[in-house]
Amino acid sequence: MSKQSALLSASTSALLLEVVDGALIIQHWGAPLQGELASVQTAIRPSIANSSWDFPQFPGIMRESSRGFLGRPTLSGHRSGKAWSTKFEVTDFHHNKNHVAVTLRDFHAELEVTLNFDLDVHGVLTQKGSVKNIGSTDYTVNEFIHWLPLPKEATQTLDFAGRWSNERNPQRKDIATGTWVRESREGRSGHNFSIADIALTSQTSFQSGNAWATSIAWSGNSHYLVEKLFDGSMSIGAGELLLPGEVTLAAGESYAAPALLSVFSADGLDGVSAAYHSYLRARPMHPKRPRPLTLNMWEALYFDHNEEKIKALIDVAAEIGIERVVLDDGWFHSRRDDRAGLGDWVIDPAVWPNGLSPIIKYINDKGIEFGLWFEGEMVNPDSDLYRAHPEWILHEGDRVPPLWRHQLVLDLGHEGAFNHVLEQTSAVLSAHNIAYIKWDHNRVLVDAGHLGQAGVHRQTQAIYRLFAELKKRHTALEIESCASGGARIDLGVIDLVDRFWTSDNNDALERQTIQRWTAQVIAPELLGTHIGPTHGHQTGRTLELSMRAATALFGHAGIEWNITEASEQERKHLATWAQYYKDNRAHLHSGKMVRVDYPEAHAYLHGVTAHDKSRAIFAYVQLTPTVAIHPSPLKFPGLDPSATYMVKAVFPAGKPRFMLITPPEWMSGISLSGSALASIGVTAPILAPANAFLIEITKA
Ligand code: DGJ
Repeated sequence: MSKQSALLSASTSALLLEVVDGALIIQHWGAPLQGELASVQTAIRPSIANSSWDFPQFPGIMRESSRGFLGRPTLSGHRSGKAWSTKFEVTDFHHNKNHVAVTLRDFHAELEVTLNFDLDVHGVLTQKGSVKNIGSTDYTVNEFIHWLPLPKEATQTLDFAGRWSNERNPQRKDIATGTWVRESREGRSGHNFSIADIALTSQTSFQSGNAWATSIAWSGNSHYLVEKLFDGSMSIGAGELLLPGEVTLAAGESYAAPALLSVFSADGLDGVSAAYHSYLRARPMHPKRPRPLTLNMWEALYFDHNEEKIKALIDVAAEIGIERVVLDDGWFHSRRDDRAGLGDWVIDPAVWPNGLSPIIKYINDKGIEFGLWFEGEMVNPDSDLYRAHPEWILHEGDRVPPLWRHQLVLDLGHEGAFNHVLEQTSAVLSAHNIAYIKWDHNRVLVDAGHLGQAGVHRQTQAIYRLFAELKKRHTALEIESCASGGARIDLGVIDLVDRFWTSDNNDALERQTIQRWTAQVIAPELLGTHIGPTHGHQTGRTLELSMRAATALFGHAGIEWNITEASEQERKHLATWAQYYKDNRAHLHSGKMVRVDYPEAHAYLHGVTAHDKSRAIFAYVQLTPTVAIHPSPLKFPGLDPSATYMVKAVFPAGKPRFMLITPPEWMSGISLSGSALASIGVTAPILAPANAFLIEITKA
């Protein structure tokens, strides 16, 4: 291979980079490559078409009009109307194993771009990039997007849409000529944020087929793009969505674009998830402790912070085996409902006359950790903070943005506001034994100005800085990222937090789908999954405890229910389920997530298989009534074909509601080879809709 080229290889994918005529070209992103590659550029050199360039053009990664590119450029910006078109040349190219660092310069536009590519052993490609102003006048950055090429087999894309309590609905559609853009303009990643944008063949399923996935590591405004040009080329990319004038670089200043983390999988959507999960698990900051079984008291109390009621909850929690209890919204100054108090992070003596220490002691004495809720980026107009500093909100001119849940957004780009939140939060943490905080973000950012300029970029950086500082000061502290449920779940904030609140919807039937797709990128142990009340507070639906428990098991499990109202029998089931979670969480939080391509739409079959294939736990979830009497058999891919396994149904929180006279015989235990389990399977019992049970598969 020539000097200025690099092959980055993982067992599942490869990236081939080459410098051609001064441009950096991604020649391949996809299946692994080996052997002789020097002639790739010649092999794919295009013909000269009619009504076209006289010589082939190689626009390369910067996608510039100066190099004959007619699609959306990588970098766009200007110096008061000048330097609007660039022609970057590669000036440095460093390749070391699976890392490539490239510097490109345009001396006319007076800009320097640095690009980094890293392919890890799991097949996750990280692209980072920055642009530096090497001129003497200001340069305004409009857009900096990381792009990857797509082959023609990628005929479809899959992304996710959502709203409060119904996050991450998959939308799969054909790629047509043009540019498909998914924007997120909420100032947080958002309920409607696409956790990934995935190109697929029309055949790609969970278990098989090619997929090219990207996920942007950013919690502010962003956009994903899929572009199919009339010359036939296709690409997928993403970047920060910068508001007008939001990033202006003075001489010598740089803008670092959010990283893009991408995966090519030849093993379907589960192959994509496996790569992201392995990447996340290998990070130094990935939670190492077993994920504590959590009781969040929000749905049991709401704003009614009554000490006796809380103690009664704690007593039952201890009996069940809860390891962490969270006091949610309502503990701080004048916060009797959601109309007041945000911004004043001091304990309210009206509800906690002796402070929080006695209740924390009560909790700790039972061997349970304590967690507390904050929403530091927000302020209610009815708060001491707002009365003292109305100028500390994100706003434009003399306008006050429209209220949302009676609150406004603090401008954390303002040092005064930033320090206020940091110091008040930190003081509460220093004064108490608090293992964990749930950090909420319950509104969108609109008209979000900082001293006359768009302020979302600065705000996003500020919250990262604040989380980092809190973790520095309180070293064992865990942070949960919550935003009205799952509106801040992204790979940008992930290195600073230990858990995401997946959704405010605790209805297990809805949660099945929300969790299924959030885990497309995020490892399940980072996703809060709670057993909700018998009658769901969001949907009003009544669900069996066995269904709620089987759903909550596949994540960082917990309970969000007034368990003092649970019956004796339900408490016993909660205790056996809690023990089951503790006994199996090491497996559930380290194995490979498997979503079986079950042939019928009435059910999900999903589970976790150990990487050494020694065991698996699956859930069969019947969502709706079956159409035929006998549902399709349950087949389990990915086990050791020649090994013999014990297979049985287990019911740690009681049995599901069956709709049959005699359940299939195998449920009480049989042995079967891995190949028979994959190809023949076992009979699916007929359940009532919205019911589930677990299947344990263990090597004999
Ligand atoms: C929204 C969160 O998602 C809920 O879990 C709860 O913390 C409320 N906010 C509290 O106001």
